[in-house]
Amino acid sequence: MFQQLPLFILLATTLAPSLAFPSYAQGFEAREGPKAREGPKAREGPKAKEEFEARAAKIVLPTPQAYTGPKKIPDEHHPYRAPGPGDRRGPCPALNTLANHGYLPRNGIASLAELISANTEAFNLGYNFSSGVSALAILGRGNPFLDKVSIGGEHWMVPPLKERIDGVPGGLSKHGRFEGDISMTRQDAAFGDPAVFQPAMYENMLTYVDKFGDGDIVTDTVLAEYRQDIYTTSLANNPTLVWHAGRTGFSYGEAGFILNSFRNSRTGHLTRQEMTTFFTEERFPENWYRRESPLEFADVQRAVAAIRGPVYPAFAGAKNEEGVYVRDSLDNNPYFGTVCAVYYDLLVPNIAGVLLETKGQLRENVDVYLEEMFNLFRPFECPRMEPEGVAGL
Ligand code: HEM
Ligand SMILES: *[C@@H]1O[C@H](CO)[C@@H](O)[C@H](O)[C@H]1NC(C)=O
Repeated sequence: MFQQLPLFILLATTLAPSLAFPSYAQGFEAREGPKAREGPKAREGPKAKEEFEARAAKIVLPTPQAYTGPKKIPDEHHPYRAPGPGDRRGPCPALNTLANHGYLPRNGIASLAELISANTEAFNLGYNFSSGVSALAILGRGNPFLDKVSIGGEHWMVPPLKERIDGVPGGLSKHGRFEGDISMTRQDAAFGDPAVFQPAMYENMLTYVDKFGDGDIVTDTVLAEYRQDIYTTSLANNPTLVWHAGRTGFSYGEAGFILNSFRNSRTGHLTRQEMTTFFTEERFPENWYRRESPLEFADVQRAVAAIRGPVYPAFAGAKNEEGVYVRDSLDNNPYFGTVCAVYYDLLVPNIAGVLLETKGQLRENVDVYLEEMFNLFRPFECPRMEPEGVAGL
């Protein structure tokens, strides 16, 4: 285990607790257990501040890939290796797969640039799309000062911000802000851990391939019917269902990802077996080729329209205290009925407003993430928006 730990952690855990140590490093308690929890004290004074600032990550966005056509994935530099005991995996089958092949760091802790590079290279996800979504992940569930997020649960490499101004970041496995209800292979948070793959749910999803697929091939109809079924089920059974515009968009977007980004461009379709390899092994199937062109926002919209269609209206909203499902409207979303409603919901009530009160590198990073999110919605003429949400959720 120690070989993975940076020197400063090693020192801090083996030397006296009075050792100088920046306060943000509290976060490693999550990994190291009760002993470390008593761990090194925050150092006070200007020197500590300097040391702390020195760890700030300045974001450098990666250069977009030069070649954006199809190619075989993985290449020889990215063999599959099952995750080790300290590695984090979470609710996204694609990010888990990327980490299992080393397109993302195998420990499951990633920066904005790493997320963009991995998703654009291995899945041919559009650059702007990768960047906007990854920015939300770090703003919501990562540490924007260090520019890191865990694709799974908490990790000492992604400690809380200084003075825990936004509480403890739980990684993408933590419910809310990104992880949400009515997922296809994960249960709603009301019923248990929402990040863990549920074989029974996946088995149920496969029965839709049997009923609505084109033989072994996964089609729009498979996902349209399955999503409608889980929507009705959650609506009926989950007393605390939350499914606002941002999550609604992502729910369908993720179904669109299955059809459009898990699809093998060598054959032009996604087979039941290939889908199963992604979901159950979190591994690229044999002879798999990424998309023939980058998946941009417009493609995601088309995919969503094909799945959502006019047949099955599914309404964004949330249950109120009486357990009644209240649909989104202009009352809770000023952009209701437009694409900008998704942007608004993901950012304004969702991300902590306190991030705007920060200074230095942290604030610079926050501005980079906000710019990347804005850039994603710029083509729809949405105004630039800012976070106003509460901290610590
Ligand atoms: C840009 C980086 C990405 C981030 C930060 C991200 C993050 C997430 C998160 C947090 C979830 C859980 C949402 C929930 O169901 O509650 C999720 C679900 C999902 N993601 Fe990703 N994702 C990314 C890219 C991708 C890509 C490229 C694909 C496909 C190739 C993909 C496929 C999926 C699918 C299919 C689900 C739904 C799983 C289910 O409903 O059971 N994601 N993603
Ligand atoms: C991505 O964002 C850049 C910067 O705003 C823009 O010039 C470009 O057209 C966008 N690309 C797509 C496909 O939207």
